[in-house]
Amino acid sequence: MSEPTDDGLYRDPDLAQFYDAANTWGVDFDYCMALATDAASVLDLGCGTGELATALAQNRAVTGVDPAAAMLDIARKRPGGHEVTWVQADARSVRLDDRFDLVLLTGHVFQVFLTGKDQKAALSTIAAHLKPNGRFIFDSRNPVLRTWENRNRRNSLHQLDHPQLGRIEAWNEPSFDETTSILTYENGYRVLDTGKVFSASAQIRYTPQDELADMIESAGLVVEKWLGGWEGNPYHPMAEEIIPFGRLA
Ligand SMILES: C[S@@+](CC[C@H](N)C(=O)[O-])C[C@H]1O[C@@H](n2cnc3c(N)ncnc32)[C@H](O)[C@@H]1O
Repeated sequence: MSEPTDDGLYRDPDLAQFYDAANTWGVDFDYCMALATDAASVLDLGCGTGELATALAQNRAVTGVDPAAAMLDIARKRPGGHEVTWVQADARSVRLDDRFDLVLLTGHVFQVFLTGKDQKAALSTIAAHLKPNGRFIFDSRNPVLRTWENRNRRNSLHQLDHPQLGRIEAWNEPSFDETTSILTYENGYRVLDTGKVFSASAQIRYTPQDELADMIESAGLVVEKWLGGWEGNPYHPMAEEIIPFGRLA
């Protein structure tokens, strides 16, 4: 395994406290809730602050895995958080003595794996935890769209509401390395009341769909359906998202 993937953005409690204000319930979570209707057990790899895992746990057994203690601390304290089995571990290497009906990664967790080797390790973890009839799903942004271009601190500035800190100004400044396909971005937050600034940089990798398809096959998995977005639209070369949905081969 190469570098750790636990960026300060998630590891540092000062930064993790902004995650829920910046990332609210979306169509990805709606899609996964519907997908889990018949699942008795779900594994959420890279569960973060656990909003989806906790909602899923209302009707089934859910395990949430994440290496970042700061994110899991928020998850545990969430209403209903006690219903989930939280495991502090790395999705590249974790081996739970269990198999699940549904294994999912949301919020582009798959992109935190920065090398082909790490991506294959994460795919092997998915395969090692699927029941014979289980299904997996995850999302990765489509590199073809080059959405990082022309984005900078100034034009990404927006405001958020934090339940304790009040109004927050947030920004995101990316820089893309063409040789590694790794995007490094600085995430910043300024609390308007106090002027206090919190910032951390993080990295994600962009993988083309054909490369992903080869890796998935090598991991002993089969894709039944490629989606191009969490609205359920099929994948096409200019789709925003690359979302494989599949099972064990
Ligand atoms: C963008 S957040 C997504 C959280 C959640 N899945 C969601 O949809 O809100 C990325 C998460 O990946 C986690 N992560 C980073 N490295 C990881 C690894 N090696 N294994 C599992 N999760 C990892 C981070 O700690 C963080 O919680």
